[in-house]
Amino acid sequence: MGAACVGLNVSLIIHAFTNKSAFLECLWTSLSSLTDFVQYLPESCHVLFLTFDDTALRDALWMKEQIQSVSTDRKDVMSRVHISPVPVHELGNWIPSVLYSWGCNGHNCGLAQVTFTSTEWDTPVVAKRLDARYDWLMESWDQRSYSLIDAGDGCVPSATVAAAVAWVAEGNCSFFTKVQNMANSKAAGVLVYAAIGNPIQDMNCEGEDCSTPLSIPASMVHLEPCVVHALWKKQLVNVSFQITPTPNFFFGIDQQGVLAEMGWFLYPTFRFMSWQAQWFDYSWQLQERLRRPAQVVTVFNNSVMQGEGGAIATVDLRAADMVDFDMLELDASLSCPGRRDETCAHWDHTVQLFVCCDHFSPHCNMELGRWITAFRRGSGHWLTDVSPLLPLLNNGKCTFTMKTVSWAMPWVTSLYLRFSSSNHSVRHSDKLYPFKLMSLYNGGTFDKDYNKGYQPVKFTVPASTKEVEVYAVITGHGSDENGCGEFCVTSHHFLINGVFDNSRIFDSAGSALGCAARVGEGAVPNEHGTWLYGRGGWCDGLQVNPWRIDISSQLNMTGSNTILYFGLYEGHDPNPTTNPGLKGKSEVV
Ligand SMILES: *[C@@H]1O[C@H](CO)[C@@H](O)[C@H](O)[C@H]1NC(C)=O
Ligand SMILES: *[C@@H]1O[C@H](CO)[C@@H](O)[C@H](O)[C@H]1NC(C)=O
Ligand SMILES: *[C@@H]1O[C@H](CO)[C@@H](O)[C@H](O)[C@H]1NC(C)=O
Ligand SMILES: *[C@@H]1O[C@H](CO)[C@@H](O)[C@H](O)[C@H]1NC(C)=O
Ligand SMILES: *[C@@H]1O[C@H](CO)[C@@H](O)[C@H](O)[C@H]1NC(C)=O
Ligand SMILES: *[C@@H]1O[C@H](CO)[C@@H](O)[C@H](O)[C@H]1NC(C)=O
Repeated sequence: MGAACVGLNVSLIIHAFTNKSAFLECLWTSLSSLTDFVQYLPESCHVLFLTFDDTALRDALWMKEQIQSVSTDRKDVMSRVHISPVPVHELGNWIPSVLYSWGCNGHNCGLAQVTFTSTEWDTPVVAKRLDARYDWLMESWDQRSYSLIDAGDGCVPSATVAAAVAWVAEGNCSFFTKVQNMANSKAAGVLVYAAIGNPIQDMNCEGEDCSTPLSIPASMVHLEPCVVHALWKKQLVNVSFQITPTPNFFFGIDQQGVLAEMGWFLYPTFRFMSWQAQWFDYSWQLQERLRRPAQVVTVFNNSVMQGEGGAIATVDLRAADMVDFDMLELDASLSCPGRRDETCAHWDHTVQLFVCCDHFSPHCNMELGRWITAFRRGSGHWLTDVSPLLPLLNNGKCTFTMKTVSWAMPWVTSLYLRFSSSNHSVRHSDKLYPFKLMSLYNGGTFDKDYNKGYQPVKFTVPASTKEVEVYAVITGHGSDENGCGEFCVTSHHFLINGVFDNSRIFDSAGSALGCAARVGEGAVPNEHGTWLYGRGGWCDGLQVNPWRIDISSQLNMTGSNTILYFGLYEGHDPNPTTNPGLKGKSEVV
């Protein structure tokens, strides 16, 4: 099924529209969403737009107009957009069966609806709704019936809405002001209705307002004349909330012809489609990198990683004949127990790979690799260069342990070691072969005593060494009052011989799209949770890139040297008052 694009070097994304979804209505009418489509869709990606509705021909013309309205200077986009005037249920090919068999019932797939009832009506009125943004409003609708009370434009508090859902008109003040007024008036929730002729919008906060969380749910709907009429006549109207399952609205076919789910669109913008397409490009380039010559050793081939033990394998590396190689890469992937992303583990957890080749060595069970799981997505696949750690593997039989938190749902892991020769230099004799490791520091709690735990370490460089590197894997987790270590900007320093400060700042931590910007590097897009935000040295669904510093020129190669690590928050020792976070790391020279 679906080998449409094999060998064409392009990916294809298929989207089926229905105007029964307020989310899709907003996706197709919001100016920023349409602009994102034109601006960010990678050139390798074609898009096929379909519609579920019987008005397919009209919808097709409308979709074309919507895109053309923002693509005046980007004619090339239209050449990659294909729109079908035939509704999905009349297509007569395999596409409907993919959409239907990958059905969904939430997370902006499926139909979010509100049901109005009144004792004066024979039948309930079911209407589409779009819930306000997840990272601003912390509450969702309960499974119950609420009474509905008119609160005008909601720009001033209203004593009558207590315990009820406030029915509020769009306009005259911001969505935030309306919801805040209704929350202060003790409303149970808010329904904002669009002005006549206006589309449903993505209700979000702006600027400063976003740091004030509001604890009632809110949604946007169209004006329903019978509701307005009943409220005007002081008749009782009740509302309840539901999600009606639907076929999927999106799927993709990557450059290799493989069908792919598109994950979770957190809010209505075509940017999520672009992120998925960008990831297809990444995945295609990764396949190319994996075709380079290398000696490949299988550690895990679809092994289950779960519980205290994680996944364990003992591999005999004697046959690998590693002495000629100066490069070691980890080809790792994390997939889920079932075919669908819905079978994938929740949350973003750290995954660590430990290796022990000699039980008597101080390096037994040192960390060889670190990744962060993709929250409910099973497509993660990464290639990480860990060459400086080659000396960990030079002793025959090695036991590899890959673990995440013991209470996480299972992941299915594959791990291949790729030994190869770098192209740094053509002449064999000029190549650098890592031969000695020195373990320096471990992580700790990021509080006022964090740096007290680190003392300068003295070392000498073995004779005939050509290069010395610091190799560090640092990730910040937890959340104190400053968001440290996950969402705060921290700096990390290796001070050599008291004078050379080698530092790195996690400056995208906490930024709105810090991790979304790394989809091209392999960060799995469209995860659940807040995968888009920048983080302290890591992203959901991505390998942690080792930080490598060539310190050779800072050293006395024949005498004694010192190295000291420290980590700072805003240029000072951290000093949180609540819940200090954790920093994890390890270094090697
Ligand atoms: C979608 O539905 C809304 C009201 O429900 C309507 O105003 C709008 O014209 C419809 N759009 C299309 C493309 O049919
Ligand atoms: C309407 O909502 C109120 C408040 O939640 C509830 O007490 C009442 O039973 C509901 N009425 C109907 C007909 O659902
Ligand atoms: C906005 O404010 C004006 C002036 O107070 C009022 O007449 C109008 O009804 C308000 N709009 C809505 C949608 O309530
Ligand atoms: C992984 O296991 C499958 C099923 O046992 C096998 O077909 C495949 O060749 C293995 N792949 C590698 C790279 O070992
Ligand atoms: C090294 O160079 C050769 C020849 O140019 C090339 O085929 C090979 O892919 C390169 N390997 C790497 C790891 O870049
Ligand atoms: C390096 O250390 C040696 C031995 O202590 C010393 O004689 C030499 O002066 C040092 N070189 C530099 C450049 O400091």
